[in-house]
Amino acid sequence: MVKQKLVSESEVVMTELVLPNDTNPLNNLMGGRLMHWMDIVAAIAAQKHSNRIVVTAAADSISFQHPIALGNVVTLKAQVTRSFNSSMEVFIEVWAEDIPANKKVKTHRAFFTFVAVDQNGRPIEVPSVKPSNPEEEELYAGALRRRQLRLVLAKRMSPNDAVELKSIFNFDEPDKTAKKDK
Ligand SMILES: CC(C)(COP(=O)(O)OP(=O)(O)OC[C@H]1O[C@@H](n2cnc3c(N)ncnc32)[C@H](O)[C@@H]1OP(=O)(O)O)[C@@H](O)C(=O)NCCC(=O)NCCS
Repeated sequence: MVKQKLVSESEVVMTELVLPNDTNPLNNLMGGRLMHWMDIVAAIAAQKHSNRIVVTAAADSISFQHPIALGNVVTLKAQVTRSFNSSMEVFIEVWAEDIPANKKVKTHRAFFTFVAVDQNGRPIEVPSVKPSNPEEEELYAGALRRRQLRLVLAKRMSPNDAVELKSIFNFDEPDKTAKKDK
């Protein structure tokens, strides 16, 4: 197995056209359809990194602040930010484009976690990730804290073991800004 791979080796760009069957009664893209596309583009990125079968283990909270209209072209870009043992964090960015109006806006970003598995569905080791520019390095560094938050919320890690996550909140320090209870 290759021991380490560049972030760029897992990059995937997928383009979709919002058709009537993808929309809600307001003629905007349904959230579930967008999540389906995100899952696919991210799974392909995880497969490219690991050269394995992958399964979705987690999808971080996605907020739907920008509706995407019928007829828009949706571009989804995914790349693996960091891997651990068998799991990989994938960063997904989404843009919506109204080509006749010449307008393109970034609408969503999300982090999904995939686990590489063998033919029996058992987790299997994956290559590590080598970030090669400041943006990739920032995503790589943050991936450890996001993993800890995910695992704590899934009750797979004790908050006490989430050392890097705790360090950004200073949980161990008394909160001097908090108002005292009366
Ligand atoms: C994901 C899955 C393979 C994990 O299997 P498991 O027996 O719990 O294995 P482990 O405890 O050894 O965990 C394996 C990896 O998954 C990660 N993982 C498990 N649950 C996770 C979660 N909720 N969030 C993030 N990562 C998770 C672990 O951190 C571990 O990562 P690491 O190897 O990099 O340290 C298993 O739960 C599964 O098959 N789930 C169903 C996947 C699926 O069907 N997805 C489609 C959803 S409809």
